Amino acid sequence: MVAGRSARPLPYICVNSSSAAPSDRPRVFSGIQPSGSSHLGNYLGAIKNWHRLQDDHDAVYCVVDLHALTLPKEAGEVLAGTMDIARMLLASGIDPERSVFFVQSHVPAHAELGWLMQTVTAYGELSRMTQFKDKSTRDGASGFVSAALFTYPALQAADILLYDTNVVPVGDDQRQHLELSRDVATRFNSRYGDTFVVPEHRIPEAGARVMDLQHPENKMSKSVDSPLGTVNMLDTRKEVEKKFKKAVTDNDGEVRFDREAKPGVSNLLEILAATTDADPTTLAANYEQYGPLKADTAEAVLSIIEPIQEKLASISDDDVSDALAVGAAKASAIAEGVLDRAYDAVGLMRRR
Ligand code: TYM
Repeated sequence: MVAGRSARPLPYICVNSSSAAPSDRPRVFSGIQPSGSSHLGNYLGAIKNWHRLQDDHDAVYCVVDLHALTLPKEAGEVLAGTMDIARMLLASGIDPERSVFFVQSHVPAHAELGWLMQTVTAYGELSRMTQFKDKSTRDGASGFVSAALFTYPALQAADILLYDTNVVPVGDDQRQHLELSRDVATRFNSRYGDTFVVPEHRIPEAGARVMDLQHPENKMSKSVDSPLGTVNMLDTRKEVEKKFKKAVTDNDGEVRFDREAKPGVSNLLEILAATTDADPTTLAANYEQYGPLKADTAEAVLSIIEPIQEKLASISDDDVSDALAVGAAKASAIAEGVLDRAYDAVGLMRRR
């Protein structure tokens, strides 16, 4: 049994060091699904933070392809999405020399610990997950709600706990899943003895919930069909300008940051704040009309996505596959040790 897991288990092995020297940096883990193209919400809510945290954390980042299968997919669809999103992450500054960067299904320990986590997750807890409620009603219309969509948060807890993670950078929509990860880690630790680190989430002040430009009461999302409301990371300059120009605002003509009363204008201010590292209320004072706010926000977004698009073109399929192969080996080295620790804590007979 390992003592003190609910506190930080430092120092642990720094997986990027060839000498396998102990690292005293906190471990960060996060994941993104390879379904549909990545959008501005993914970038501002999560990827921007992933990039920054590489500097002073032991970073582990994962393309969670198994999670993408929770909604029906055509054969091969997830593979194509995995290459696309991995390339996008590399172009956005995820550096495989400094971070462990890999695909979830390349490390079988995720699925194995996912099962153990289901055994300490209550049916009632899963039933309360708002993402399950939203997705099962939306996709229920097309007929098939998988059991995996329901148990998904247990696999997400496994993703995080496998790496002795201290910090999980995510957007606001993952807050409830993160709370559940903490709860199941704590439950496992109290049932079987200290085994897992209990992680904290890291949600950005601005950009944690980027809303749809046409329906600012809904979050921007890959799984919702709102072509004018979603800014994709691959959009052309013309498309970005058009989407911001047509963004839904309101009729009172006042530029003010008030999410409840003025969701459309507040969303624009928040996007501008997140892209320029400013404060939305302070920014509002610079504008008297919606037109210039829309134009400046479009320009600020383009200043982020255009360099990423340029970089994308220079990353080959081989570059992506090579980076992911190295990452999978590093990730397995950590994950298998933690999985063994969990099996030992539960007390299963181990194969000789
Ligand atoms: P996913 O793939 O839906 O989204 C990836 C990241 O993008 C953030 N995000 C947003 N942030 C701000 N505004 C938005 N409109 C917006 N839309 C998405 C998400 O919060 C997320 O951080 N369950 C996760 C994937 C996952 C994971 C994990 C995350 C699986 N295992 C372990 C962290 C740790 C998901 O579906 O994210």
